[in-house]
Amino acid sequence: MITCCIFDLDGVLVDTAKYHYLAWRELAQCLGFEFTPQQGETTKGVSRMASLDIVLRAGGMEHRFTDEQKQELAARKNRRYLEYVHRMTSEEVLPGVLPLLAGLRAHGMKLILGSASKNACAIIDRCGLRPYFDCIIDGNQVSKAKPDPEVFAKGAEMLHVPPSECVVFEDAAAGIEAATRAGMRSVGVGDNPSLGKASLQISSFEGFTFEDLLSGIEK
Ligand code: BG6
Ligand code: MG
Repeated sequence: MITCCIFDLDGVLVDTAKYHYLAWRELAQCLGFEFTPQQGETTKGVSRMASLDIVLRAGGMEHRFTDEQKQELAARKNRRYLEYVHRMTSEEVLPGVLPLLAGLRAHGMKLILGSASKNACAIIDRCGLRPYFDCIIDGNQVSKAKPDPEVFAKGAEMLHVPPSECVVFEDAAAGIEAATRAGMRSVGVGDNPSLGKASLQISSFEGFTFEDLLSGIEK
């Protein structure tokens, strides 16, 4: 039985990955090197500081900065990222998301947002998504990044739902692993083969309904 759906934010409900990439690329350019879209892919689902390490490694600068300087570089990237976020509108909610969230609520599902991002609240407010969620767990409330199950386990605990009744929607392999480690089923969203360990994989939410979820997940 499924009573609760937990959604990752970036890459599942909204396509913020492009803004993360642009902001990291601008930082890399300021430091004098290029950060390619392929390298950008590897920051998906990864925490802010771990993403900074990926960027610095791409420029061969992983040992150049003190921890304090790294905090400042991450803050600089985040300021730029937030300039993009502050221009977002509900138009940027990915296709099929709103009908699915409304359908899940109509069937009495509890909905949780479970995101690694410290900017999750700003994004869901900009895009009009906050009213759909019973509980929000973001990067400010967890200390361990996915694939650690903390973010999902915390959400389920807050709503007193057993993990076996939860299904997690994720676009990153680390998120699918986090769901499995939390004892939850998962839906991989997107065509990336790295999502193959999810209980169910779908290309996008377009046309995807509560009934599709139940039949896909209960197999
Ligand atoms: C994840 C994104 O959701 O959040 C990552 O997929 C990002 O790309 C991480 O690095 C942390 O986000 P933020 O907004 O706290 O820098
Ligand atoms: Mg994601």
